[in-house]
Amino acid sequence: MKFTTLTKVTTDSSLPLLLSMARSFVTPLYRAAFLTGAVSSGVLQRLSGRGADVDTLAGALGITDDRQLLRAWLDLGVRIGELAVDTGTYRLKSRTAKALALPRNDTVAAALEEVVRFHLPVLLNAPAMLRSGQRLTMADQDGAIIARSSRVVQPFVEEAIERVLDRAAPLRLLEIGCGSGDYVRYAAQLNPRLTALAVDYQAEVAAAAAANVTRWGLSDRVEVRQADVRELDLEPQFDLITMHNNIYYFPVEERTKLLEQARSLLAPGGRLLLTTACRGGSLSVEVLSLWFEYADFGGALPEATELADQLRKAGFGDVAVRRLIPGDQFCSFVGGNTAGTTKEHSA
Ligand SMILES: C[S@@+](CC[C@H](N)C(=O)[O-])C[C@H]1O[C@@H](n2cnc3c(N)ncnc32)[C@H](O)[C@@H]1O
Repeated sequence: MKFTTLTKVTTDSSLPLLLSMARSFVTPLYRAAFLTGAVSSGVLQRLSGRGADVDTLAGALGITDDRQLLRAWLDLGVRIGELAVDTGTYRLKSRTAKALALPRNDTVAAALEEVVRFHLPVLLNAPAMLRSGQRLTMADQDGAIIARSSRVVQPFVEEAIERVLDRAAPLRLLEIGCGSGDYVRYAAQLNPRLTALAVDYQAEVAAAAAANVTRWGLSDRVEVRQADVRELDLEPQFDLITMHNNIYYFPVEERTKLLEQARSLLAPGGRLLLTTACRGGSLSVEVLSLWFEYADFGGALPEATELADQLRKAGFGDVAVRRLIPGDQFCSFVGGNTAGTTKEHSA
């Protein structure tokens, strides 16, 4: 570098900004993107506890050509500090890479994938989407990643189910947007006389839930149907309707009508249990909310008070709101198919 160039660079006021930017977010962004690629390709899991050379990794990934390019990507992982290499054998190096590779941390690995694959693009593309009028669609989600990352709230949802579910009497359950069907299974385990209809709008999700129900030996008690809940034409027959983690799949202005329709499917004295992340929680929840605002099918995550009001407007009585995670805004809402009063609890 010529002396004049060096003087120019070191006195340029943009240089400290560039260096600080690299330190504070460019490197963490690269790490997050590399780790996401390593998790979703299975490289991280393959390297857990043992090393592998590029040929072994290429074989595991089904890569027949371009081994040089795979090596270049792995070497970048070494440069970032996530991997180490010794005489051609790659190993996990960072504590984060080693932890994310463990099966027990799959939920956290999926949460990282969700942030990188879905949260970053909405922050990146929002103004361009507004200019072009383009919106996110259900196809922009990856149901499998969402199903894995939503497991983070599973113990809290299960606790909410335990609180409302009668364990002994015969009980008819409708689950709206059942996903994998895990929560229907949990309810069926708690009450051996429970029978259920589980519906999900996405055909591949409903098919996977139906396969799970068969595998769990519950086909005689649980029917899975691919359906849009708004088009269900059924007699009022359910003692309990559950809706977990999906109220934001419906536009805000349609929620009262949806809840009214859910109530119309309840037997007299039946109850609705709804669980959802609400506004005012963590930053990730706010970005999730933005994602659904930019979707052509959903809407922002609800404020807890707003959703409780919508339940009352839909005719539910004895509306009870409970914060399930201390210090966070993940809440359960219970409403009865009777007119009544409102109770508010906190965790
Ligand atoms: C984030 S997932 C939650 C799945 C599951 N309830 C859980 O908590 O793990 C939301 C689910 O709601 C389903 N869903 C969205 N809109 C729906 C509709 N109109 N009718 C039925 N299911 C719907 C989606 O297909 C998706 O599987």
